[in-house]
Amino acid sequence: MILCAPLSLPAGTLPKSMSDVAELENFVIQDCGSCHGLALKGGLGPPLRPENLDHLPEAAIAAIIREGIPGTAMPPWKPLLTPADIEWISHQLKTGKLVSP
Ligand code: HEC
Repeated sequence: MILCAPLSLPAGTLPKSMSDVAELENFVIQDCGSCHGLALKGGLGPPLRPENLDHLPEAAIAAIIREGIPGTAMPPWKPLLTPADIEWISHQLKTGKLVSP
């Protein structure tokens, strides 16, 4: 039974080290953006702008990024991102610093 078939992610586009904030920003725009829209306004996945994430505390967003949402196209990112990366992304999504208004 396959509930959550792993999608072929563009792993080649992933920077080797996520310590570089610019690379991490680029990763969110490119990789998360491939489903959530390049301005994170939604696409295959829902929009991820701060006004869309009121219902989710930062810790819940981090958990979703880490584990994915089983049974949906949202994949788990823990094989690719460190906990610090995930915290950083969750914070950026909550504050909207990554996307222009
Ligand atoms: C392959 C497509 C895909 C990619 C890539 C993807 N997502 Fe998602 N994401 C989804 C889908 C589809 C959902 C909605 C699942 C559902 O039906 O609940 C979702 C849901 C979410 C949610 C919950 C939103 C809400 O309002 O409940 C968050 C947060 C999220 N994604 C963050 C991210 C982040 C951060 C990345 C990049 C690290 C990312 N996603 C990459 C498809 C994707």
